[in-house]
Amino acid sequence: MESVILDRHERINTSEIQARLEKATENGIDAGPGTLFPRDEISEFIDMMQVYEGAMYEISTKLEVLDSEFHVHFSHDPIHHMERRLKSVNSILGKLERRNLPLSTEAIRDNLFDVAGIRVICNYRDDVYSVANYLSSQSDIQVLRVKDYIKNPKQNGYRSLHVIYAVPVFLSTGEHYTPVEVQFRTIAMDYWASLEHALRYKSDLPDAKLSEHSQTLLDCARSLQNIETQMQNIHRDINGAPQQEEAPTSQAFDPKR
Ligand code: GTP
Ligand code: MG
Repeated sequence: MESVILDRHERINTSEIQARLEKATENGIDAGPGTLFPRDEISEFIDMMQVYEGAMYEISTKLEVLDSEFHVHFSHDPIHHMERRLKSVNSILGKLERRNLPLSTEAIRDNLFDVAGIRVICNYRDDVYSVANYLSSQSDIQVLRVKDYIKNPKQNGYRSLHVIYAVPVFLSTGEHYTPVEVQFRTIAMDYWASLEHALRYKSDLPDAKLSEHSQTLLDCARSLQNIETQMQNIHRDINGAPQQEEAPTSQAFDPKR
């Protein structure tokens, strides 16, 4: 018999969240002076993070199942790898403060859709759209927002497909539809985004160097897009996996579903 190990060690670190929130009730947050986080909402915040974590696992499992179905049907793994993370207490509170929102669990629920995040790195662009569409069409999933930066790259050259899904998390109190931000991208897009991210946070660079590197990165984005298209065409010719060029569309949120 196969024994199944609960990976409890990966679960949210409640004592760390508690400690950070306690600090935020006394001193505000590192990002600025702002208001304090209300002490009587600490346990609600921790409960909320547990639900976001549940939603993150629900979506990851759905993605793993889709990947394995492709493997069986097409002898092709659409997903190269996945990364997932829960936003840290400090970045949650920092984002509220930057947007001039109150530091409260309600403001987080109503305004932040990237508390739970998954990055899905696919082999080809077809895989990005296929996986995003198959996930979107599942009956228990709602698509809240779609930003297709592959069709419409950002000015700096950034490409990825961002979809915010709402997925039900079943707790003792019933089902809670919870948003998860999923960034779908190819290996080439991920390769590019990592370097661009590193450049952006390199603050001690002279302006001239920064703009030179930014221009080179924009050229790289275009070259990578060309290479990707050529390689995808070869792959289409030798593998029968679905061809997909369209992003999913968002739906109006229905809390009863
Ligand atoms: P914020 O979440 O507040 O940034 O606003 P938003 O939800 O409107 O942003 P968007 O969906 O455009 O992007 C959110 C995430 O995508 C960021 O946190 C990054 O992980 C990634 N991203 C977006 N633009 C860029 C970019 O130009 N370069 C890189 N490296 N990553 C980006
Ligand atoms: Mg975001």
